[in-house]
Amino acid sequence: MTVALVTPKTRPADRRTSSPGRGEAPVLSTAEIASLTAEIRDLAKARDAVILAHNYQVPEVQDVADYVGDSLGLAREAAATSASTIVFCGVHFMAETACILSPEKTVLIPDLDAGCSLAASITADQLRAWKAEHPDAVVVAYVNTTAAVKAEVDYCCTSGNAQQVIEAIPADREILFLPDMYLGLWLERVTGRKLRIWMGECHVHAGIRPTDIEALTADLDTELLVHPECGCASQCMAFGNSRTQILSTEKMVTFAKASPKQRFVVATETGILHRLNKEVPGKQFEAISERAICRYMKMITLPKLRDSLRDGTHLVTVDPEIAAKARASIDRMVAIG
Ligand code: 13P
Ligand code: SF4
Repeated sequence: MTVALVTPKTRPADRRTSSPGRGEAPVLSTAEIASLTAEIRDLAKARDAVILAHNYQVPEVQDVADYVGDSLGLAREAAATSASTIVFCGVHFMAETACILSPEKTVLIPDLDAGCSLAASITADQLRAWKAEHPDAVVVAYVNTTAAVKAEVDYCCTSGNAQQVIEAIPADREILFLPDMYLGLWLERVTGRKLRIWMGECHVHAGIRPTDIEALTADLDTELLVHPECGCASQCMAFGNSRTQILSTEKMVTFAKASPKQRFVVATETGILHRLNKEVPGKQFEAISERAICRYMKMITLPKLRDSLRDGTHLVTVDPEIAAKARASIDRMVAIG
């Protein structure tokens, strides 16, 4: 099943942005940010809470967090933290994963509506029906899935370790991969394995089109950093081009730090630009598309984070039976790569 595509407008290369877009997140003054940040840090201490934030969060939320990272890093932090409360500044499936990994902890999300179009592209019932058609297959799910879907799978993976997870499965086994078709197609290329792929997509990454990268190919000094959730057309163009790296958000930061190149064009949600600009000073980063903004990620704001810590909202829970089943596949994900 495929979710609706956002029809992109072609934008000239000279309008690329080097600062992250905010979606509908309100612009706060410097004084408001300073005061909310101080309040949040005090509340986190009083509640014995750790604040985890995904790389796509608005800058001021990244800056107040204890840890900022990709899905894999956040899952590992959630499993390892000694804090009694985790406040998850990301989307709902990520907070569910934290709940499953740390069932004894309180997990809060500042806005319960922070969903994910990719996770919504398959339900547990749809997966059960697909599995019934392929009873001998090993089932691998990208971490962008609900807990109920994770309870039905053998392995979870993130963009940070998907290749290693597929390579850990014996070569003679049939594999069902879900829900992202572009990540699945990329995995087929890099592993040489044939996968059965669910036709889901992320509306933000699918909206990054080949026309967005055409202007780049002329500039020999630029490196292109592409998230594997991006559309197959741009990946095909990118593939075989030595100036293109297909990377998770965390690996984009690691790669940019180590690269001798000075200029990078980034094909993923624009929130990552804040981390890149902050942690790799002196190099130039531009978003390939200023439309690549995840409105779900941008639902988390400093005032909502403050309210969450002050009022203990919103509690994220996972049915214990589902959590127990999902745990094995998530443990395998955290252990690999
Ligand atoms: P990363 O795991 O690479 O951070 O990606 C998560 C995500 O939601 C991408 O859209
Ligand atoms: Fe989901 Fe796409 Fe947003 Fe990532 S960017 S959280 S995959 S909707």
